Amino acid sequence: MRAMVYRGPYKVRVEDKEVPAIEHPNDAIVRVALAAICGSDLHLYHGMMPDTRVGSTFGHEFIGVVEEVGGSVQNLKVGDRVMVPFNVYCGSCYFCSRGLYSNCHNVNPNATAVGGIYGYSHTCGGYDGGQSQFVRVPFADVGPMVIPEWLSDEDALMMTDALPTGYFGAQLGDIEQGDTVVVFGAGPVGLFAARSAWFMGAGRVIVIDHLDYRLQKARDFAFAETYNFNEHDDVVVHLKKITDYLGADVAIDAVGAEADGNLLQHITSAKLKLQGGSPVALNWAIDSVRKGGTVSVVGAYGPMFSAVKFGDAMNKGLTLRMNQTPVKRQWPRLLEHVQNGHLKPSDLVTHRIPLEHISEGYHIFSSKLDDCIKPVIVPEAA
Ligand SMILES: NC(=O)c1ccc[n+]([C@@H]2O[C@H](COP(=O)([O-])OP(=O)(O)OC[C@H]3O[C@@H](n4cnc5c(N)ncnc54)[C@H](O)[C@@H]3O)[C@@H](O)[C@H]2O)c1
Ligand SMILES: [Zn+2]
Ligand SMILES: [Zn+2]
Repeated sequence: MRAMVYRGPYKVRVEDKEVPAIEHPNDAIVRVALAAICGSDLHLYHGMMPDTRVGSTFGHEFIGVVEEVGGSVQNLKVGDRVMVPFNVYCGSCYFCSRGLYSNCHNVNPNATAVGGIYGYSHTCGGYDGGQSQFVRVPFADVGPMVIPEWLSDEDALMMTDALPTGYFGAQLGDIEQGDTVVVFGAGPVGLFAARSAWFMGAGRVIVIDHLDYRLQKARDFAFAETYNFNEHDDVVVHLKKITDYLGADVAIDAVGAEADGNLLQHITSAKLKLQGGSPVALNWAIDSVRKGGTVSVVGAYGPMFSAVKFGDAMNKGLTLRMNQTPVKRQWPRLLEHVQNGHLKPSDLVTHRIPLEHISEGYHIFSSKLDDCIKPVIVPEAA
């Protein structure tokens, strides 16, 4: 089969690889219909994620058709059109039984903090991902779901991570009626978070980024008030000014460890590797929320950080909430919202790229060229 293969930072190729085989009776093999590139994949692509091995295939957002099932699989059959959450999880351990699917204790021998994620380095379990023609899906009875007939392929694809993560980001904010919510990052995750904040009762939604085309999308898609942080000396001071000098009730970090906006942080992380990334967006979230407010972090952070404003968070009495998304927990409500026409997830898809051209897809998305918001990979396209 053809599969995206990592060759080192900023180098991905498409190569021939063995079609994956059933390794356990509860595995399924899925023929990928669509995959997506996520902001999380960029951390791998940029070489920021420990133990990202040459030869591995990325892709934790994918949908497809069941090609083969192991002997114990009961919930899926060959030919089913399925969406697969980005989490690999057992469904029955201490954490899974409490709904913490992203923290499963049985799927990742390499780490105790994070569970399993398709195509996301050996730190996250070493599973090959779906930016390929076929993918092995472990615990096939647990994660995947047959896609309802009324849901389109691209809408289903957005259900495997970007939409549930945005929604989860808003949920972790514990938004109360009339709250002011500020979202850092206008990528797919931030845009879905901003849109979801309204579902939860927000009275005002503000989105911060430095890419004008994405801020435009935040106005059109998420009905948000937007500010470009490059147009303000200090975006936190600006946010204080427009919130009666109190601050927002809730701040959502949908940027993660590769934030722009502070040269020193950029040099100590990306250049000198003195810390695992640049916590600029996290610090802005801590600074711009009011005392007693909530900071929700869905932007991804890997290893160690310095210069996180933890003391301010402590002294302001903030509630900090964060996790990788337990995707399937979000599906029932989100399916209802989509079916009722409250939002169309595929509105954020901007690029459809054949698998053979995936390296171009990574380049366009990483460099934010061509007004790219969400690139979709089509394995069977010529
Ligand atoms: N928690 C989870 O389960 C989960 C799931 C998916 C993605 N993520 C993470 O969410 C983050 C966003 O993902 P995405 O797909 O939207 O990525 P993306 O790269 O498309 O978007 C990130 C956006 O943040 C903006 N940005 C950079 N620095 C900023 C700053 N200081 N303030 C405000 N905006 C800033 C960028 O310009 C960009 O538009 C990533 O870190 C990704 O790894 C987490
Ligand atoms: Zn993702
Ligand atoms: Zn588990």
